[in-house]
Amino acid sequence: MLPDIDKIIVVDFGGQYCHLISRRIRDLGVYAEIKPASTSIEELKKISQLKGIILSGGAKSVYEEDAPKCDQAILKMGIPLLGICYGHHLIAYLENGEVGLGKVGEYGLTELTIIKKSRLLKGLSSKQIVWMNHKDIVQKLPKNYTVIACTKNSAIAVFADEQNQIYGVQFHPEVTHTINGDKILKNFVIDICKAKREWDTSQIIDNIKNEIKQTIGSRKAIIALSGGVDSSTAAILVKEVIGKNLVAVYVDTGLMRYQETEFIPKTFGKFGLNLKIISAQDKFFQSLKGITEPEKKRKIIGKLFIDIFNEIAFQEKALVLIQGTIYSDRIESGITQHSSIIKSHHNVGGLPQEIKLEIYEPLRNLYKDEVRKIAKKIGLPDEIIKRHVFPGPGLAIRIVGEVTPQKAEIVRHASYIIEQELKKNRLYEKVWMAFAVLLPIKSVGIQGDARSYKYPIVIRIIESKDAMTANFVKIPYEVLEDISTRITNEISEVNRVVYDISNKPPATMEWE
Ligand code: XMP
Repeated sequence: MLPDIDKIIVVDFGGQYCHLISRRIRDLGVYAEIKPASTSIEELKKISQLKGIILSGGAKSVYEEDAPKCDQAILKMGIPLLGICYGHHLIAYLENGEVGLGKVGEYGLTELTIIKKSRLLKGLSSKQIVWMNHKDIVQKLPKNYTVIACTKNSAIAVFADEQNQIYGVQFHPEVTHTINGDKILKNFVIDICKAKREWDTSQIIDNIKNEIKQTIGSRKAIIALSGGVDSSTAAILVKEVIGKNLVAVYVDTGLMRYQETEFIPKTFGKFGLNLKIISAQDKFFQSLKGITEPEKKRKIIGKLFIDIFNEIAFQEKALVLIQGTIYSDRIESGITQHSSIIKSHHNVGGLPQEIKLEIYEPLRNLYKDEVRKIAKKIGLPDEIIKRHVFPGPGLAIRIVGEVTPQKAEIVRHASYIIEQELKKNRLYEKVWMAFAVLLPIKSVGIQGDARSYKYPIVIRIIESKDAMTANFVKIPYEVLEDISTRITNEISEVNRVVYDISNKPPATMEWE
């Protein structure tokens, strides 16, 4: 269900760009949604309050046989259209212009010269710095189109059919390196498409609440509350609509963060949430006994969650399972798509299929920063809003080898120390994740006057934008030293601390 407000559709010809475009438009206060290149004209026509269409960039050349194309009728819908890079080529191609390989590709910052007035580039001076990333160029302009701007290597870098409000730009306005990119998108979305700025936090909340009312009605629902910002926000929003008909379930698997089981009721108590805390540590540790293979651990944990949720849903007569899935989990998918290849992330992938409940994802159209804004507006504390993500299988995938209660305690405490020290040094919010990993080996040390033979802890601190790739953070040695000293002083089973200096790829963020 799309919200009943003005909207822009971004047609996806290549993942990384279309999400950027959609985010920039939402930043302008207009709702944007991504649709696959295969979307038919009939489907587009059914979208209410559709104000404009953007054809995104992409990696292919339009003249390649398997290049994604959209229905040519899109150009005749009478709805303003903007093609970006590949989208720019596609418009030219569909309108019988010519596209071919440029003499030289243009990559990075390039000077654009505006040669004719256009509504798209209104308010811009004649020379502009734009960001390019292409090898193909439009070589022959289609009929009825005019060249608006050029660069040294692209004679037709921007074109327009002002009468039919169709525009093409060779560069990427959605990338922040294009200095006036936001202005160009604003010219298109606000001035040309005349889309109203209806997508603000209050509007989003109202929309979601209306949808929750219609979707759940008088039925009972359950939600797995992990303490992350997504599930917390979903829980509070749903609670505000259906009240006690929502049962929020927090499962203490024994593999949770430090003092999480105390933190959850303390934090959510004031929201009047119908909260059920399930103590399942023994069940989890028992089932994980002797298991060392990472994927097996995930499967076992996933299955235990399913059993617990099925049981509670049955007891509570709940028919709906709420999940905190967000937009990027579904499409862009640093997490989901990727996980299906590399790791099975049970809380975004495996859980729903086996559970006999209707799955409802109220945040499925939102980006993380939008969820954070809502979280703030509905009064969730900063501690939740700014928290690092935590994997569904919890500490089990940060204990290499067999998972035991003692090892969980060690790795939990070590992670807590890492987080505390980063917070003390104002680094916590600057990194994507920071945690400890426990290795199943021992090494020799000297503590007091005696020889010791104990576990090492690995410190893993990474930065990332989208979870697809990541770099280890070049933390000052002094901070690492403080962390190391505290870990070996406060955790008697550890005598050595190492820093993981691997990026992703080739490593993944988690060790398992
Ligand atoms: P990797 O290790 O694949 O992690 O580089 C990328 C992001 O995904 C999280 N992650 C998981 N999340 N269930 C989850 O809910 C899982 O099984 C899982 N494995 C990894 C990881 O913490 C990081 O943020």
